[in-house]
Amino acid sequence: MNRWKMIPVAMALAAVAPAQAESVDERIAASQEAIQEFAQTLQGHLMEAMQEGGPTEAISVCRQVAPQIAEDISAETGWSVGRTSLKLRNPDNAPDAWEREVLEHFEARHAEGVPASELAYHETVQEDGEEMFRLMRAIPTGGLCLTCHGSEPSGDIQHALEQMYPEDQAIGYSEGDVRGAFTIIQRM
Ligand code: HEC
Repeated sequence: MNRWKMIPVAMALAAVAPAQAESVDERIAASQEAIQEFAQTLQGHLMEAMQEGGPTEAISVCRQVAPQIAEDISAETGWSVGRTSLKLRNPDNAPDAWEREVLEHFEARHAEGVPASELAYHETVQEDGEEMFRLMRAIPTGGLCLTCHGSEPSGDIQHALEQMYPEDQAIGYSEGDVRGAFTIIQRM
């Protein structure tokens, strides 16, 4: 498993091979920025909706706003930017084979005691004869997330989730778990 060089985000920014230093370094930094923007924008909308309309209102925000932010940032950067997970709420967020492998590796590393906030991975891969830079960063489950992803969602929330996501698998998480990951694909 040598190919899995799992590196915390801060180290990933510092440690790069000299020949490709600039481009890989820049791609990592720009990806981290896009992820930061995604996370902050979504968190802002989520908290506002929770405060103003309560959790059931926030569910519709997640449903509409999360894919919209992903689309906006993808349009802005020209990359593919999204969220994925091994236990999905929305099947549209399903991982591809590469993403699944990285998510499984994140889980294994987390089981060994690495905090979810430190799990990131990037690789340049060939896909259909094209070179792609791919990066994923794990999303930790925070306290706020448990309202809708924890073991015991309240009656109202459970009901709303069942209506909208009959195949929902994204419950039963505890604080600190790897909820999923941000995923970025850049054509090179
Ligand atoms: C108000 C309820 C609610 C809260 C709180 C919430 N989520 Fe979600 N989450 C959802 C809904 C609804 C979806 C499905 C969105 C969609 O349709 O794309 C979702 C989807 C996701 C996904 C995409 C993968 C999938 O399962 O489809 C991730 C990752 C995720 N949530 C992480 C989090 C994290 C991390 C937090 C805490 C910061 C959080 N969520 C808080 C309702 C919530």
